[in-house]
Amino acid sequence: MTTSFSNAFWLPFTPQRQFRGQPLLFTAAEGMHYTTSTGERMLDAMAGLWCVNAGHGQPRIAAAIAEVAGRLDFVSSFRMSHPQAFELADRLAALAPEGIDHVFFTNSGSEAVDTALKIARAYHVARGDARRVKLVGRAKGYHGMGFGGLSVAGIARHKRDFGPLLADTAHLPLPYDGRSKFSRGLPQTGAEYADALEQLFLVHDPATVAAVIVEPVTGSGGVYPPPVGYLQRLRELCTKHGILLVFDEVITGFGRVGAPFAAQAFDVTPDLITCAKGMTNGTVPMGAVLASRQVYDAFMTGAPDVIELFHGYTYSAHPLACAAALATLDVHEELGLAARTARIAPTWESAAHDLRSAPHIADIRNVGLLGAIDLQPRAGAVGARGNEVQLACQQAGVLVRNSGDTLVLSPPLVISEAQVAQVFDAIRGALARVG
Ligand SMILES: Cc1ncc(COP(=O)(O)O)c(C=O)c1O
Repeated sequence: MTTSFSNAFWLPFTPQRQFRGQPLLFTAAEGMHYTTSTGERMLDAMAGLWCVNAGHGQPRIAAAIAEVAGRLDFVSSFRMSHPQAFELADRLAALAPEGIDHVFFTNSGSEAVDTALKIARAYHVARGDARRVKLVGRAKGYHGMGFGGLSVAGIARHKRDFGPLLADTAHLPLPYDGRSKFSRGLPQTGAEYADALEQLFLVHDPATVAAVIVEPVTGSGGVYPPPVGYLQRLRELCTKHGILLVFDEVITGFGRVGAPFAAQAFDVTPDLITCAKGMTNGTVPMGAVLASRQVYDAFMTGAPDVIELFHGYTYSAHPLACAAALATLDVHEELGLAARTARIAPTWESAAHDLRSAPHIADIRNVGLLGAIDLQPRAGAVGARGNEVQLACQQAGVLVRNSGDTLVLSPPLVISEAQVAQVFDAIRGALARVG
């Protein structure tokens, strides 16, 4: 297979010119491994990009996609649809926490987030409370790359170059400080960070706030699990003030933290859940907003022949995506992936924290099959060590991801105990070599 490539492809989130000097191309994937264009196998400790939860190349998913591609290539869901879309919505509603039982389909996590934010505002309009427009996000939050998601996100560099974002936003602090360093699983301290919402109410009248959106576990921002009791407190405050709580579960959905959704793992039910990624095991782009009965019902007033929500995408509930998602749910059930994740998480946790004695370690965090390792930045070269460690892991045959000097890990949920050891051995070796 050729390894040459043109200059036309403008890669996302990639230094274009450096990449062309050191291209990393994959030509096949199966189970826990990628195969590179030069024939090496690489253990995938990122599940692609937090999405291939059931492992690569699941034959049942591939067969389902192929079947529908040959039978029903496309149908719009504007005033029509197809049976598998309804079947999938029912299956997702059954998987979601009690009371979350409606599904709006999108094609990505970014679209799911923007859809959830629009549903939140329109919900208040439908209830006759159009003052509620403000949207509250959180520091280090990642909610995709649309202007809505970017506005509630909390990563300054992502926002810097794109001009004015939504005006009516505010942000909570990250519920993390030195006390929670090296916590195993959820930090025991920090629930009181939820009370920062009350502080925001000093500036923003709570009667003008439409929604609070958080990732139950901050993901791309560096894998920060929520302190014990934090999400409960946030839920209580939102309920008290009539504000919708949105969990962005684009990463945490579909078994990643040992339950179908983090809402169930942490026993807190939001009003809206956004999901994508693991929904189709990464095979076909798809996302969704899962909505509570209360939210949905608020729209179902007025004349029955009038559209209740003026929103949707050409590819909402695309037949290939629906087939892929249904097959993904079958595979999850067959392999019991959420329960399997809960079982292997303690092995993952101790392997991660065994790295504490390695050089340059500043913090280690974990929950379910997520992990982050903060490295001490090198003086005058922030991010260089993280980048070099990531490259050294690749050379050792393990694909990890770095965000600056933080390594983030999110392997397929089918990872074996031996492969867990391989991931952390590769990182230990890389840390020893990189200096
Ligand atoms: C929590 C969260 N929300 C939204 C998104 C955006 O998803 P997408 O890249 O599919 O648009 C991501 C992507 O990483 C994410 O992690």
